[in-house]
Amino acid sequence: MTILTILIAPNPILRKKAQPVAMIDESIKKLLKDMEETMHAENGIGLAAPQIGVSKQVLVMNVPANVDVDGELIEGLSAGPDLFFMINPEIINKSDEFATCQEGCLSVPKQYAEITRPATVWVRYIDENGEILEHEFNYLQSACVQHEIDHLNGKLFVDYLSTMKRDMLIRKAQKVLHQL
Ligand code: NI
Repeated sequence: MTILTILIAPNPILRKKAQPVAMIDESIKKLLKDMEETMHAENGIGLAAPQIGVSKQVLVMNVPANVDVDGELIEGLSAGPDLFFMINPEIINKSDEFATCQEGCLSVPKQYAEITRPATVWVRYIDENGEILEHEFNYLQSACVQHEIDHLNGKLFVDYLSTMKRDMLIRKAQKVLHQL
């Protein structure tokens, strides 16, 4: 496994619509594993392939089902599967209710903003074994999967903010980068 370099906004690859994956071969499986390792190394909860310079519809996510958008554990709910590998994911339905989550992004390092999104989404995707699955996501998982699918469409969480705020966070992220 390899730890990959994460692209930082405003890199143009982050703005491209990612290509669907036609075939799940060994290179896609290796990509998923490398992305998982990179996500863990960077302490991220999700990572989309464009963030490591691969413009393909592939994402990894590591969030338990029982964590709320504020990061608190929800009593009485099981953690469920927390690691997801998704190929060609698609939001097939979303709730009318909304939830607000403080989001950050490895491609906009050390910048955070409150983002409001549908509270629940249903996603159809292909897993690492080529199986087509449909899954309901709530709480932090929902915010995270929507954030990652946005990456596959060339969209960043800062795009939900005013142009002024967005440009400011991207500028600040660049400064953080130069301090590293
Ligand atoms: Ni992100």
